[in-house]
Amino acid sequence: MKDLLQQRAEHVLNTNFKDEGEFTIPCENLYPFQWFWDSGLIAIGFAHYDMQKAEKEIKTLLKAQWHNGFIPHIIFHTETDSYFPGADFHRSNLHPDASSEHKSTGMTQPPVTGFVLKEMYRISENKKSTLEFIASQIDNVFDNHNYFYKNRDPQNEGLVYIYHNWESGTDNSPIWDDIWDTMNPPEYDFERRDTTHVDPEQRPSKREYDHYLHIIEIAKKHNYSDEKIAELSPFLVQDPLFNAMLIKSNESLIELYELIGGNEDKIEQLKKWQEKSITSFNDKLFDEELGAYVHYDLRNERPLRYLSSSSFSPLFANIPDSEKAETMVKVMMEKFGSDAQYLCASFDPTSDRFNPKKYWRGPVWINLNWMLYKGLKQNGFDTIAKRVKEDTIEIIENNGFFEYFDSRKEMHKDNNAGYGGNNFSWTAALLLDLLKE
Ligand code: SER
Repeated sequence: MKDLLQQRAEHVLNTNFKDEGEFTIPCENLYPFQWFWDSGLIAIGFAHYDMQKAEKEIKTLLKAQWHNGFIPHIIFHTETDSYFPGADFHRSNLHPDASSEHKSTGMTQPPVTGFVLKEMYRISENKKSTLEFIASQIDNVFDNHNYFYKNRDPQNEGLVYIYHNWESGTDNSPIWDDIWDTMNPPEYDFERRDTTHVDPEQRPSKREYDHYLHIIEIAKKHNYSDEKIAELSPFLVQDPLFNAMLIKSNESLIELYELIGGNEDKIEQLKKWQEKSITSFNDKLFDEELGAYVHYDLRNERPLRYLSSSSFSPLFANIPDSEKAETMVKVMMEKFGSDAQYLCASFDPTSDRFNPKKYWRGPVWINLNWMLYKGLKQNGFDTIAKRVKEDTIEIIENNGFFEYFDSRKEMHKDNNAGYGGNNFSWTAALLLDLLKE
């Protein structure tokens, strides 16, 4: 018999799967389309009980890939005005390589697809059939990595940039405040939709949205040209979470190509990228004084010296050596791991900028917890990994399948500390994976 929590998680995923489009929305109302990294993580959940849906999810995502290998962050499969900014604002068709069939944004999201395919293979009970599916899709993922290294690494460092906070996935992280300080966008006139679905207290501010829209306007003015964006975007950041996802996915693609056989040229290329990326990542993004990885602002040539859950994500991609790993985990436990906090707040709980209710400015997110759990285990921190897993299961079981959760334990007394969207797909998907461990 499946336990109740597992049944509830499967129900969330099944309800959010849209048969007509063969993809899964992150949640009703707030996010009514297909999102790149959501889809990848959702496929991991489906893989545990409905491999066909997991495969559909990935196939639908990759069908919207552009001719240059780029995968967009939102694919607007359906028409609805419940989301802003929608397809008419983003106008992906400005880019000559954009899909003519699928309307999308002109920005991307953390490249999870490589390691998601590997997770599907790990979970599969029919490895032969899953490997056949992977073999039919893997070159598209390789092309996506090729896009990043060719177009997003102007100084040839092995570290790719993101040009928009929405590309990071950690949309309104306090880290971006330092970049907003360098900009002064116009006051745009627009109608938010997110704040009609969710308490505005839990969402980014109007002024933050002005910045978000302004960066897109600049990119659109140049038809989403990568060269022009690299030259002109006020937001140009090497993000440790984003690059860790790419590195983890490189590692998975190498392993999968080896299982499939052949493809020596691709394996060789991936190994070259991998070596260079890991070296630069450690040289450039590890902050000795803070004892963890930080973001680098490529536009203004300065590190952004803040601790966030992204700072610890490189554990998952096997980037730090054992000494660095030890230091990072110690810092994490000192700053994020007090008895008053659930692991792991998305931003440094000891900082003035910490806000445990507001989106990516402090709350606990399940996708980052899942990566952290895996990263801690891979690096031999079993006791802390166990705490991350238990915290994660406890907050979902008590509050429901929310998008994010208050990190302060005292706020959980009434089981009312889940925020943002409810019945959130990756919360359900990754919980399923943790329960099966
Ligand atoms: N998460 C973003 C939003 O809030 C977009 O990716 O709409």
